[in-house]
Amino acid sequence: MSEHAKLTIGENEYELPLTTGTENETAIDIGKLRGQSKIITIDPGFKNTGSCKSAITFLDGEKGILRYRGYPIEQLAEKADFMEVAYLLIYGELPNKEQLTTFHDSITHHTLVHEDMKQFFEAYPRKAHPMGILASMVCSLSTFYPESQDPNRGSSAVDLTIHRLLAKLPTLAAWSYKHSKSHPYVYPQNDLGYCENFLNMMFKMPTEEYEIDPVIVNALDKLLILHADHEQNCSASTVRIVGSSQANLYASISAGVSALWGPLHGGANQAVIEMLEAIKEDGGDYQKWIAKAKDKNDPFRLMGFGHRVYKNFDPRARIIKKAADDVLDKLGINDPVLDLAKNLEEIALKDEYFVARGLYPNVDFYSGIIYRALGIPTEMFTVMFALGRLPGWIAQWKEMVENGEPIGRPRQIYTGANARDYVSIDNR
Ligand code: SDX
Repeated sequence: MSEHAKLTIGENEYELPLTTGTENETAIDIGKLRGQSKIITIDPGFKNTGSCKSAITFLDGEKGILRYRGYPIEQLAEKADFMEVAYLLIYGELPNKEQLTTFHDSITHHTLVHEDMKQFFEAYPRKAHPMGILASMVCSLSTFYPESQDPNRGSSAVDLTIHRLLAKLPTLAAWSYKHSKSHPYVYPQNDLGYCENFLNMMFKMPTEEYEIDPVIVNALDKLLILHADHEQNCSASTVRIVGSSQANLYASISAGVSALWGPLHGGANQAVIEMLEAIKEDGGDYQKWIAKAKDKNDPFRLMGFGHRVYKNFDPRARIIKKAADDVLDKLGINDPVLDLAKNLEEIALKDEYFVARGLYPNVDFYSGIIYRALGIPTEMFTVMFALGRLPGWIAQWKEMVENGEPIGRPRQIYTGANARDYVSIDNR
């Protein structure tokens, strides 16, 4: 392939360099286009626009491929644990035993949050959505650790900030749940693993021991791995652009939490369960709801269906759908909503509207059914997504910093009023 693209505009022809990645994806580098032609490109939602070069995650939407640092998601979900995957995403290689032990120990010893942060929780209404609490709490961490605000970001300060955030997010998440229930906070324990600690902080009551079920721990660990990164999705792009101003890691991740909250993104896992419950309450008339999803005059969308990149299947949805069967079977749970979801998927995938648009179940379609079986309340589902996505957001932020990427500042095409003179109020 030629090293350049040729662009002809009117009488003028411009040569634009091509850049090709390790999986043979090719992009037109338009970095100098405006300087040569005074012309920019425009692509609302960046559907066909690359924002960066990245070595973290590779997706192939047509083939349903997802790899973290080259390792297929199917192998990582089956054989690795979440701490290993977090290390892989952030530092680029699978850790050896010594590296994993050091990483895990460092995180274990940073799980406590400053006692003063408990006052923040007390100020929130009991019914506050935990994503609103989480976004605020994550940004507030920067006020307790001012050294994290150093834009020069020496590597040891960065590692400490990264480990603190990985360690404290589960504590903040669990305490937002305890606050909503008016239950006493449960402190992290250094003798528990990452998932065990979170479950213990979520569900232990002072009056009794909380029995940690390995089935639940393994299911949660697998879900966190499946959510750990997904290249330049809405929230990861948000983290990168906020971080590009040299805002600190906590502020950048807080922005990512806010972006994830939206129902078109991570908030979909909560919206899916609410949708399935509504369909069940409505008598399970699938065809009625499929028709609503297809009706352009109806704002209803089949939540958990469709994806910007995957146009055949989301490999994570396949793994989660099987895990849902396994977990509910092992826990002896019969959730009618799982059967409803499967029936809905079967009908939609035979419908021309969905097939023609490449709309298939995405990561959010079945995940809520497992979270529910684990005892996680619906409003906490997107918080669970954030817990999983945290290492990916951190990896994306770290790569952007290490690559010395410029501050993100897109251009625009102006469509407003042309120049006009001020008119005094008496003459309007
Ligand atoms: C996540 O980017 C990522 O990687 C995200 C994520 C990650 O790991 O970070 O994978 C996580 O966010 C998964 C997506 C969760 N969101 C949902 O499940 C919400 C429902 N899905 C959609 O709203 C939608 O599919 C998106 C937002 C996921 C993708 O939207 P796009 O790529 O902008 O596509 P579009 O809205 O332009 O839709 C194309 C067509 C349109 O119809 P036409 O105008 O061509 O006639 O498909 C239709 C849409 O109306 N369509 C749907 C639909 N999704 C798209 N119609 C009904 N139900 C749906 N769910």
